Amino acid sequence: MTVAGLDSSRLRVKITGRSLPRCADEDLGFGTVITDHMLKVEWSVERGWNAPMIIPAGPVGLHPFAHVFHYAVECYEGMKAYVDANGDVRLFRPRMNMQRFRTSAKRLSLPDFDGEELLKCIETLVDIDKDWIPRKRGFSMYLRPVIFSTTPWLGLTQCAEAMILVLCCPVGPYFKSGFVPIKLSVDAKYIRAWPGGTGNVKAGGNYGPTVISQANATAAGASQSLFVYDKHEYVTEAGTMNVFFLIRNERGVKQLITPSLEDGTILPGVTRQSVIELSQQWGECETIERMIPFGDIKAAFERGDVLEIFGTGTAAVIQPISGIVYEGVEYKPITEFNDKALQVRLTNFLVSVQYGDIDHPWSHVV
Ligand code: COI
Repeated sequence: MTVAGLDSSRLRVKITGRSLPRCADEDLGFGTVITDHMLKVEWSVERGWNAPMIIPAGPVGLHPFAHVFHYAVECYEGMKAYVDANGDVRLFRPRMNMQRFRTSAKRLSLPDFDGEELLKCIETLVDIDKDWIPRKRGFSMYLRPVIFSTTPWLGLTQCAEAMILVLCCPVGPYFKSGFVPIKLSVDAKYIRAWPGGTGNVKAGGNYGPTVISQANATAAGASQSLFVYDKHEYVTEAGTMNVFFLIRNERGVKQLITPSLEDGTILPGVTRQSVIELSQQWGECETIERMIPFGDIKAAFERGDVLEIFGTGTAAVIQPISGIVYEGVEYKPITEFNDKALQVRLTNFLVSVQYGDIDHPWSHVV
């Protein structure tokens, strides 16, 4: 028997006869409303990838022993679809997501697939459900590709069966507060990622265990945690986002700094990479990826040299951060949050690309 690769030319489409409940754009939260259709592709070690199927969105039946339930053999992606002024649907740098999805799958010992072929199937799905894409600015359709092991026994072995689903949901801002700055608190207890772990891939197992840290953040009067690790308290991520600091160093040089990918604790975010590239092109400051001991940030705060802080992510895009609580003391950046702020200009540029206001190679027309 031949082992088949994931092949978009075998895509089968079953259009639903019913329409799922919708809500007005302004009432949309994040990830509560599912669209009418989803993509499902099943894999087995003997046969490879089955024909991809677009089917009515709904429950999937899994064996209760499926590895995903017991050993968290799962990873996912986050992407967004937008409608431009001409009514065309656009994705933002989707090939970066496909590449990362494959890297994550490999780390989780899940089967590999052709990213271009999966992207073609996703494009068909998005086209079928395009009338679900909110038109309001700040709103979009979030796409959630997920791959997991459905291997139906309890022994922890190589994956024998797996499934990819791609789900779509119209979304508003990730944080209820919208584009309003949020506060972080440094979590001294829980560690999100460490060298040799899985922080650099999008495993669901990186996210679930951080929920407990929310309570620490809330107790400190903040809404998200800033995760650090090691005795040097190296900064990793802010809640579910990559994090950036615009600072002046001891020599007065303006730098945009973000934790580097070198120790394997940081997710290579698509928005993170886009911000780095834009900042390098704009040349207003040095753009630096490096290991960041929290002490460096604290020292910069104490000198009055932290200008801006923000988080980046697909769900959040760019999230302004108004301060960081560390050992009970709140430290604040000195720049007023207004249109001149670097993070606001970065956001405006990214949003113009995402909604196709400006022609840019990062925007992929479906
Ligand atoms: C994303 O930003 O796409 C994420 O995966 C974060 C998730 C918790 C919504």
